[in-house]
Amino acid sequence: MKKRILFILTVTMTVLGMSLAGCSSSDNKANQETTEASAKDEEKTEAAKQPEEGTRVAKDGADMQTEDPSMPTRIPMEGGTKINMYFGDTLITGVLNDSETAKALIEKLPITQHVSRYSHDFCGMTETLPYKEEEVHYGWLNGDIDYATDAPYFTILFEDEDVSEQYGNQVNIGVITCPLEEIAALEGDYDVRIELAEEGAAASADKSSQEENISVSEKTKNNSLAVYFSRVGNTDFPEDVDASSSASIQAEGGQIKGNAQMIAEWISEEAGCETFEILTKESYPVDYDETVDQASNEQNEGARPELKTEIENLDEYDTIYLVFPNWWGDMPMPVYSFLDAYDLSGKKINVFITHEGSSFSGTIDTIKELEPEAEVTEGLAVRGGSVAEEEDNIRQWVKDK
Ligand SMILES: Cc1cc2nc3c(=O)[nH]c(=O)nc-3n(C[C@H](O)[C@H](O)[C@H](O)COP(=O)(O)O)c2cc1C
Repeated sequence: MKKRILFILTVTMTVLGMSLAGCSSSDNKANQETTEASAKDEEKTEAAKQPEEGTRVAKDGADMQTEDPSMPTRIPMEGGTKINMYFGDTLITGVLNDSETAKALIEKLPITQHVSRYSHDFCGMTETLPYKEEEVHYGWLNGDIDYATDAPYFTILFEDEDVSEQYGNQVNIGVITCPLEEIAALEGDYDVRIELAEEGAAASADKSSQEENISVSEKTKNNSLAVYFSRVGNTDFPEDVDASSSASIQAEGGQIKGNAQMIAEWISEEAGCETFEILTKESYPVDYDETVDQASNEQNEGARPELKTEIENLDEYDTIYLVFPNWWGDMPMPVYSFLDAYDLSGKKINVFITHEGSSFSGTIDTIKELEPEAEVTEGLAVRGGSVAEEEDNIRQWVKDK
């Protein structure tokens, strides 16, 4: 009970409010009476008019494939610019073309673009970009990445190309390169991180580049690794868990996430590295208080919960970002299991902690003791209740390294 007195847990209810911005073309978004929505409605009215002869240019000049309807119709431009678009954990790859509009967007990368899911696209208002009048056309091809000049919108159109010629104001800036179903399977709103896939890399225009959906780990492998432990990944929450019911559950892009997980993901995006989640074989209880009690017992017993995830290629990494929550003024015991399992000698360990008042406690010294041959650096201590507000600081810390 001593620890209970030491730690008075301040549970701050945090729900990341999801903006209702975006293009309003689907029925289930009927309540989104935003300026953008009305702009889109105007577009729809406009769109109901038949395009003039000669303006149906979605298929004009586009290098197309039609034999595999599961893949984007447009073949990516040879020498185009490969981009990665992160919808939460889901990577959607794409290739931008060399239009004036695409080039202006490329100049701005990396950016975070808010988009919402509609019946045939993901769409959100974006910054004004330059475009050539002669490139504005009606319609799209499935998989097209378009700039819609009316609001303006950034939009990824993944279906309904056959009925799309009624919609105007489209400027094609590229195409996704993964199966259409991967983006169609996503729901809700996202703050999509869009970045160059590889600095200066040119996209291969051959069809094989359309067919590959390279995983995040293959694309972003470098010599850093963001290792994290969060309550969320280690708890079998029911699907309808209420994110507002706990400070340690964040709702992002329709998914629930742990605070340490979110921090690790921002680090991985900024460092361009993979993430590795410390997962225990036995899940923690769904009930918060039961988890708190179990964690206390584990600590008293010096337990080393068995892990079910393993790093196979530790030699490839020389920097480990280690992110975990403060549990009872210490690391959660599964983080001890992790540190027992690996010899991190000669590596840099940048430690990030999320907490509700206790900050790092003694964890930096403990890690130094457990990994005496590693260079252990204090990263940031981030309050779980305000993790979202700390995103920029966290990214900046990684950039400055
Ligand atoms: C078992 C348990 C013990 C905790 N102990 C502490 C503590 O001693 N000090 C503190 O500041 N926060 C404590 N917290 C709060 C967490 O550190 C905080 O909510 C954190 O942001 C959760 O991160 P996660 O979502 O990645 O699991 C505890 C939470 C749990 C579940």
